Amino acid sequence: MQTELSKRLGVEHAIFGFTPFPAVAAAISRAGGFGVLGAVRYTAPDDLKRDLDWVEAHVDGKPYGLDVVMPAKKVEGVSEADVEAMIPDGHRQFVQDTLAKYGVPELAEGEASGWRITGWMEQVARGQLDVAFDYPIKLLANALGSPPADVVARAHEQNALVAALAGSARHAVKHKEGGIDIVVAQGYEAGGHTGEIASMVLTPEVVDAVDPLPVLAAGGIGSGQQAAAALALGAQGVWLGSLWLTCTEADVSSPAVTRKLLAAGSGDTVRSRALTGKPARQLRTEWTDAWDDPAGPGTLPMPLQGLLVAEALTRIQKYEVEPLLGTPVGQIVGRMTSERSVQAVFDDLTRGFEEAVDRINRIAGRSGT
Ligand SMILES: Cc1cc2nc3c(=O)[nH]c(=O)nc-3n(C[C@H](O)[C@H](O)[C@H](O)COP(=O)(O)O)c2cc1C
Repeated sequence: MQTELSKRLGVEHAIFGFTPFPAVAAAISRAGGFGVLGAVRYTAPDDLKRDLDWVEAHVDGKPYGLDVVMPAKKVEGVSEADVEAMIPDGHRQFVQDTLAKYGVPELAEGEASGWRITGWMEQVARGQLDVAFDYPIKLLANALGSPPADVVARAHEQNALVAALAGSARHAVKHKEGGIDIVVAQGYEAGGHTGEIASMVLTPEVVDAVDPLPVLAAGGIGSGQQAAAALALGAQGVWLGSLWLTCTEADVSSPAVTRKLLAAGSGDTVRSRALTGKPARQLRTEWTDAWDDPAGPGTLPMPLQGLLVAEALTRIQKYEVEPLLGTPVGQIVGRMTSERSVQAVFDDLTRGFEEAVDRINRIAGRSGT
């Protein structure tokens, strides 16, 4: 599965894998794809350095990249305390009432809640880049907006290509104008923050809008047949996030989350603002239902919502409170029915791709090609 872009990046298959887990990123690159490590959770530079050291030691010299989050709407010049102060009491009460309703225990004294607002701040993302550019990363991807011009220039100086995610052709054109190299066209089906346009419609729209920039299709891809469809629509590769979550190398927050992912069907996700304040696709749970219920207080904008629910989500995960327990994941979750190694998933993708191509060749009357 080779395209101009995969050749340019020196990978065997034009399969790009976003993952928050270093072991998964390294395994994707080793398997002949392009592993991209998500950096948003690394608020301490030393943690990112430790994990990039690990990736570097485990990729067998294969290329890999890093994904940062620099939102177009910046969270700057305010402290976490300032943001805390903007959260209405009624919303705090709603969180406490919902946790109490399900009997969710408190965290132990001094135990930190996982997520912090700083993960969304440009200065933190810039700190991540200071660390990352000491490594031979070949791709820098940005979610939620176009990366600033100086970041694009710095990546290019370091011989890294720059990608940005887009949920509409309009956003994709803005990225192109910002000087990036690759657009990741991410459809409505995708896990995490998504727009409202399905991949089948979005991919060719973006391909046409940013021509000749290469486009990677993201959202709803979990088989080689789907990858072949994306390439048929003009993409130069595919970008997968959800499928790796049930790989044996993934370090998901709890076994209960893995069980829920394996059991979920394609209709069991919801695009909800409950996690961050921006629409993000995730498992539908009684927690997302509570936030999306018109009788409730509704969600707050980013970054308030993330800060409001951070401690609650840590408690729900720690105590595995199943009805409330969720994770970002896309509609492709319906095909994630067993725990397999990244290599096994990869073999399945490449085999499925070949089958799809053979099938289309037969339909086109080119059997034997
Ligand atoms: C658990 C999870 C976390 C994600 N976090 C990010 C992120 O931090 N940055 C980003 O650019 N994309 C993130 N995404 C989106 C992926 O990069 C990718 O576009 C998406 O998963 C593709 O669609 P799929 O889920 O159908 O494979 C995340 C996706 C998932 C499933």
